[in-house]
Amino acid sequence: MKYFIVTYGCQMNVHESEKIAGMLVDIGYDAASSYEEADVIVFNTCCIRDTAEKRAYGNIGALKSMKKADPDKTIVVVGCMTQQKGGAEALKKKFPFVDIILGTNSLDKLPVLLQEKRAKSRIAVNEDPTVDLSTELPIYRTSGTNAWINIMYGCNNFCTYCIVPYVRGRERSRAIADVIADVKQVLSEGYKEITLLGQNVDSYGNDLKDGTNFAGLLKEIAALDGKFRLRFMTSHPKDFNKEVVDVIAASSNICHNIHLPIQSGSNEILRRMNRKYTVEQYLEIIDYIKAKMPDVGITSDIMIGFPGETEEDFLLTCDLVKKVRFSNAFTFVYSPRKGTPAATMEQIPADVKKSRITRLVKLQNDITKELSDLYLGNVYEILIEDVNPKYPGTVCGRTDSGRLVTIDGDPSLIGSFVNVKITKSRSASLFGEISQGEKK
Ligand code: 5AD
Ligand code: SF4
Repeated sequence: MKYFIVTYGCQMNVHESEKIAGMLVDIGYDAASSYEEADVIVFNTCCIRDTAEKRAYGNIGALKSMKKADPDKTIVVVGCMTQQKGGAEALKKKFPFVDIILGTNSLDKLPVLLQEKRAKSRIAVNEDPTVDLSTELPIYRTSGTNAWINIMYGCNNFCTYCIVPYVRGRERSRAIADVIADVKQVLSEGYKEITLLGQNVDSYGNDLKDGTNFAGLLKEIAALDGKFRLRFMTSHPKDFNKEVVDVIAASSNICHNIHLPIQSGSNEILRRMNRKYTVEQYLEIIDYIKAKMPDVGITSDIMIGFPGETEEDFLLTCDLVKKVRFSNAFTFVYSPRKGTPAATMEQIPADVKKSRITRLVKLQNDITKELSDLYLGNVYEILIEDVNPKYPGTVCGRTDSGRLVTIDGDPSLIGSFVNVKITKSRSASLFGEISQGEKK
């Protein structure tokens, strides 16, 4: 029997798909390479923006005829779309041919439901966001040299645009001993990079009330034996503090690569987003990061078109982008999410949003390219992660600061650290050659 998993959304979902795969491998399934070959097809959905939902709707809908021709195929829908209020019923109504719908906190039911002959038309979603998965799930890691490790689930922040706290529930931190045990396990399996995952990693430990915090966790992991890279996401500027920066700066294992979503450069918009920091506070922590780690790569999430955003607000966002000079940024057009406070505010016309996102993307692209050019001629240590399918005969990996670098080479290099001299830059990605030279 074979399975095929389609994943939408963030790294949290990518890792949850590894858990779904882990459960299926445990009960004897193998990975398929296409829908056609699979006995079980799983859609792991995302609902953070309208575009993510539309994509999932389109792809699930497209399976209707395949299911008709081959009724024995089992189609499963999981992930954030199922956790929205009334979401599971809406999915079932729109796609009656879907066999199983599972919420993010009911994933462990999948093996049992598949093994039951009566698995058809089953919905197992618990909309109570405080309910946790009662068991730790096996993990079938699929992300090459990188191992994802959850340190916490859920979010308490309720940014007014965001659906995540409604579908992922309140913050729950995993015990530090469990996280450390997972880290030791993946290091012993040969993983060279670890990415700690949480919606707001900086508030790790707050709910444990035993003094555990994120800086302490980082310090403990970074002190473990072996050569490896430690990354984490996502941070929240209201909680990301100097203590964490000091720990990162003092460790050779923690990457100098920080993702710190600003969302907007206007204090008025930040206030209405319920972000709980000001532009000035954000710039203060950015200055501190840059002073402690001049080689740092800082990335961000930036949103335009939040309700009430004026041209002046938008220009303030552009000013901030010019001041910080992010090495890269994910740029988003605000999309109303049902049930969130911002969805009921007065919305910005589509043509205004379009003009703003176009200008922002151009501004950030120019900065990304200028910063890429600064790497030219220098030597950096790269962890080779994969082949680069765009260019046959090449492999690629990242600098400590997070830049993607492609070099000529074969897959035997995957998993090794190599020194690379940068010879060409193209927007966000770099090209280079293996070098014996001194690294920067
Ligand atoms: N519309 C557009 N972008 C959103 N994000 C979160 N919610 C929305 C929304 N309703 C963006 C934020 C967040 C990133 C993961 O997705 O920028 O940081
Ligand atoms: Fe959403 Fe804000 Fe929580 Fe991030 S911090 S998941 S944007 S509510």
